[in-house]
Amino acid sequence: MRLNSPQINIITKACMKASRSLIRDFGEIENLQVSTKGPGDFVSSADKRTEKILIDELLKAHPEYGIITEESGIINKDNLNNRWIIDPIDGTMNFLNGIPQFAISIGYEEKGEIKCGVIFNPITNEMFCAEKGNGAFLNNSRIRVSNKKKIKDALIVTGGPKGTSRIKEKIFAEYINISNNVANVRKFGSAALDIAYVACGRFDGYWQRELNYWDIAAGIIILKEAGGFVDFFEEDAALPLKKNILATNSNIHGELRDLLNKKDIV
Ligand code: IPD
Ligand code: CA
Ligand code: CA
Repeated sequence: MRLNSPQINIITKACMKASRSLIRDFGEIENLQVSTKGPGDFVSSADKRTEKILIDELLKAHPEYGIITEESGIINKDNLNNRWIIDPIDGTMNFLNGIPQFAISIGYEEKGEIKCGVIFNPITNEMFCAEKGNGAFLNNSRIRVSNKKKIKDALIVTGGPKGTSRIKEKIFAEYINISNNVANVRKFGSAALDIAYVACGRFDGYWQRELNYWDIAAGIIILKEAGGFVDFFEEDAALPLKKNILATNSNIHGELRDLLNKKDIV
């Protein structure tokens, strides 16, 4: 790997450590699926276990850095200059069902800008990582977004709506409009991997509403360093960790944005 900042080394090491227990936990799921209790509680403890390993490792390296976490809230909240943003398992529903499409996602932000990030699927052993100015990689190979030029030929990925969503109708309407104008739409259940797959050209674009910052923080830098475009739309200043995202290769951005009717975003 040709990335060499101290932060990327810290994240990679933390990911590798946490992934060992995550792989063990995933191996247990099959047994739990047939038990009467089901795997629900076990998965939430796997989430917490993984997050604890990540937090311990990150704090060991930098006790003063802020951490935005899914499960434990915000740590060292006064440090806005250096922050880790972590999602211990992105794709929990897949994990719960024994589907190996989930990842650990960790981004590093300096003064509000994402500088580097790692998305690691420990089951397929695919590690996506990037560092500002030094490119994006899948394991040891440099990655780039696809070169698909027309939205009608594009394979697009999305997610949602969440069960609790209050804007399901709006999301379904967008889905219909987009699926009528592209080659096809997929829904894989891990926002972090969805963006990573756009970064390496497997998908041509991704859009989704109602995400949290930790779902996509690492993905932002990975996609940008792979030559892709990312925008956020309809942001709510009162909820800075809530995100609606549009992430694509460099060619179809405008066309997908128009289908979403977001002519105002650049
Ligand atoms: C979820 C996944 C999913 C997305 C949801 C997220 P979680 O994260 O990224 O793809 O559709 O909006 O909440 O709960 O598995 O960490
Ligand atoms: Ca998530
Ligand atoms: Ca999660």
